[in-house]
Amino acid sequence: MYVGYIPLVCLFYISANAQSPFGSGITVGTLDSTALDEASGLAASRVHPNVLYSHNDGGDLSRIFAIDSTDASIIAEFGISGADHYDWEDIAMGPCPDKSSCIYIADAGLNHHRPVNMIYRVREPGAVRDQTLTIIDKLPFIWTEVDGQTLLVDNHGDMYMVSNVNGGKGLIVHIPSSAWGSTTPFNATSSVHLNITTHHHDPGAGDISPDGTELIIKARNHVYYWKVQNNDYLSAVETPPIEIPHHSERLGEAVCWDVNGTNYYTLSEGRHAPLYKFVRLPSGPAVG
Ligand SMILES: *[C@@H]1O[C@H](CO)[C@@H](O)[C@H](O)[C@H]1NC(C)=O
Ligand SMILES: *[C@@H]1O[C@H](CO)[C@@H](O)[C@H](O)[C@H]1NC(C)=O
Ligand SMILES: *[C@@H]1O[C@H](CO)[C@@H](O)[C@H](O)[C@H]1NC(C)=O
Repeated sequence: MYVGYIPLVCLFYISANAQSPFGSGITVGTLDSTALDEASGLAASRVHPNVLYSHNDGGDLSRIFAIDSTDASIIAEFGISGADHYDWEDIAMGPCPDKSSCIYIADAGLNHHRPVNMIYRVREPGAVRDQTLTIIDKLPFIWTEVDGQTLLVDNHGDMYMVSNVNGGKGLIVHIPSSAWGSTTPFNATSSVHLNITTHHHDPGAGDISPDGTELIIKARNHVYYWKVQNNDYLSAVETPPIEIPHHSERLGEAVCWDVNGTNYYTLSEGRHAPLYKFVRLPSGPAVG
């Protein structure tokens, strides 16, 4: 199964002797509701086993869908009160102020208007059923970039946004967890770009592993992996990544680790989109 993937990947291999530690993906199912038809972000619940969260791209209601990661069925819809939805581009898991588990939402896309550049966070509910959740707080930010589709949050609650650019070498900025609570927008500055090259306007998504040591970034036709030391994501992304498997998706803008940081999932826009799962190879080489 892995062998079939090599010819495709080699063309783009950046890291000469690195081998993917993940197998080629399997389809766990296709979305069973057309309410989620422009999936633009993906994150794994830290509370509810086998639950992933996703949301639609620009123009939808303020809502998050809970997906069963074993069959891609949609099991609940959460209305998000207190948050506007201009162009939500990514979600990620991170701590709430009381250290319980929160879903972070980035409204940072360019969709018929200037990006609003806002991050919201809402506590994960105790039960996965249809309900309305109220945001805990919101964090406006400014940066030099036109728009971004990638929000990363690490295990300490530090946030990173990656801009969406031609060629994929997006700028990555750090937004510290201490930025919450200010009404003036946080001025996120950086000179660090991803060490990748694509042929599209991307990347479209990303996720930091629950323990903070691994980073995955999804570009249109690539998925990139970095091992990260000491939560130093800015230094990590300046080094060449390892390219890891993906399935071709028309508009794949969603990726996440599972709750254990073992395997990863991708999901794309479109009705009844397939949810792909990429399993870490038990015999895979040590990375990093
Ligand atoms: C943001 O910070 C940069 C770098 O310090 C500075 O040049 C820029 O003027 C700041 N922007 C605002 C709106 O304060
Ligand atoms: C990408 O990584 C290579 C190898 O470490 C380095 O030589 C190059 O300067 C990096 N490129 C950027 C844009 O950081
Ligand atoms: C995560 O690990 C726990 C404990 O080993 C296991 O029960 C669970 O199935 C794992 N979850 C996923 C999504 O792999």
